[in-house]
Amino acid sequence: MKKPVRKAVFPVAGLGTRFLPQTKTMPKEMLPLVDKPLIQYAVEEARAAGIEEFVFVTSRGKDVLEDHFDQHPELYDTLEEKGKKESLAAVQAADIPSGHLYFTRQHQPLGLGHAIWCARHVIGDEPFAILLPDDVVLNGVPCLKQMMEVYNEIGGNVVAVTEVPREHTNRYGILDVANDDGRLAKMKGVVEKPAPDKAPSTLSIIGRYIVQPQVLDFLEQKVVGAGGEIQLTDALQKMIAAGQDFHGYRYQGTRYDCGDKLGFLMANVAFGLERSDLGTNLRSELKKLLG
Ligand code: G1P
Repeated sequence: MKKPVRKAVFPVAGLGTRFLPQTKTMPKEMLPLVDKPLIQYAVEEARAAGIEEFVFVTSRGKDVLEDHFDQHPELYDTLEEKGKKESLAAVQAADIPSGHLYFTRQHQPLGLGHAIWCARHVIGDEPFAILLPDDVVLNGVPCLKQMMEVYNEIGGNVVAVTEVPREHTNRYGILDVANDDGRLAKMKGVVEKPAPDKAPSTLSIIGRYIVQPQVLDFLEQKVVGAGGEIQLTDALQKMIAAGQDFHGYRYQGTRYDCGDKLGFLMANVAFGLERSDLGTNLRSELKKLLG
């Protein structure tokens, strides 16, 4: 019997140094894609996939994230009085019902694996999802929902993957593939940020995971890996070695790495072009700009 995936962890403790000075006082997760912060895309994606419990791993200076997912009665009343129904729906889309939103702190920046470990008491003994808000996938069916369908089919552990150029393997978790049917790649290993000549494949993990709770036991060992950090990927590798079933799923859609300036700008253009209220005008303005 597959246990349902009800909880999702959002690691949001990072300093966002790549976006300074913008992120000096503003969390990078609040950077807007068109008119909505990155973190809200991740939360809405999780909700669309059936997630009920939302766990944020934060750090100092991230309080605004807590407010963003709280209710705002004065604003709601004002929008209601003014008949601004669409704006009201847009802000209320960020509401998470009382008792379903959890905040836990990562006191020191010891790595992604350590951040996930900080959520252990809220996760307990259930499979859970992890969403890295920097990675945004543009697609009709949200990426995590696609993964949930795969999980309901095959169980075990599922990570979202995409091919990257070999010279980029040192930016991602890279799969060691046992067999591959073009949609699902059964994994026999995974390596964090291998050099191009050492990478076992060019299939890379994007920031979406469905994992069994045993990952927390491996993270508990607090082994330091690539970049001097406690890596989630290393715990996944240990789970595979211990016999856990792991698949890489080639999701439908386009991933934008919004932790990178070019990726973030591209995402804004791509999401803008998709919008019914902006797409046509944005397209013609871009054409003018590019001559
Ligand atoms: C993290 C993970 C890496 C994964 C990537 C996806 O790296 O450690 O395995 O491929 O997210 O975005 P980071 O981007 O935090 O360096």
